[in-house]
Amino acid sequence: MAEASAPGKAILLGEHAVVYGEPAIAVALDLRTYVTTVPRPGGITVHGEPLQDKLFPHLRKAVEMTGARDVELRIESELPSSAGLGSSAALSCAALGALLRSRGHDVRASEVARLAFDIELATQEGRASPTDTTTSAAGGGVLVDSAPGPGLLWSFERNGKRWHLHRVPVPELTLVVGMSGQRGRTSEQVARVAQVVQRDGLGTVRELGDIARAGAKALAAKDQEELGRLMDRAHAGLRTLGVSTPRLDELVQAARAHSYGAKLTGAGGGGSIIALTREPERVVHVLESKQCPALVAKLTPRGVEAAP
Ligand code: MEV
Repeated sequence: MAEASAPGKAILLGEHAVVYGEPAIAVALDLRTYVTTVPRPGGITVHGEPLQDKLFPHLRKAVEMTGARDVELRIESELPSSAGLGSSAALSCAALGALLRSRGHDVRASEVARLAFDIELATQEGRASPTDTTTSAAGGGVLVDSAPGPGLLWSFERNGKRWHLHRVPVPELTLVVGMSGQRGRTSEQVARVAQVVQRDGLGTVRELGDIARAGAKALAAKDQEELGRLMDRAHAGLRTLGVSTPRLDELVQAARAHSYGAKLTGAGGGGSIIALTREPERVVHVLESKQCPALVAKLTPRGVEAAP
């Protein structure tokens, strides 16, 4: 038996634009996915049923990459799926960790991040960034940038684009996550943005990149007011890209009454919002009054981990 786990994430700034090589900032959330592998003749199964590629495309890829055969996979997750909180990346990282360990390999975050990114690329039709997968593999705060700088973890180049992944210190931030209850599928939302970009050009994407760059400075200066303002602006840009919904706009608007700023997080089309606040209880209350389950996010420095 082998076991591994990996965390979900929230993107503070830069989602979607990061697919086009712009910067992004993400933090690992203390909500994890756990995968256990049990050797068992009869091919690859998930909780005793044959692995269905349509249901678990990320698992199929992880199995192919690690050359595993005759194993049962068991999954437990604290992360809701299609909620913009990185459940797919956490599943890829945890599955890779467990499968690598079951085959006697060391589980290195850099290796898991690389393989998990290639899984995202395959499942998002080539339109993906390494943001979610590196944040899940490395834990903590991650800055994705087009140029290497201090705190560089690793770099990837795919389809003519280059991403440099950095460790970024995250000051004490209180984030509230509100789950809209609408499911947002990442592959659909990145395809939608690709259409908007084809029609209208890269103006909004570049603007979101500038906002994330300013966000990195605000984070370093521990300037929460500025970070909040930038989050508000980022939400407006994401609306322009067509990935917000009336429900997400409503929740963001409600949260702002008690926040430095609020925005959708992750792919959008549903999923979750985040609010940066000094008054988390009030934000949770206001979101819950709109039938939106909400939690005060705990961040984690722990990335992918395999049981010894
Ligand atoms: C999804 O969490 C983040 C996106 O930017 C897609 C990606 O980076 O691959 C929307």
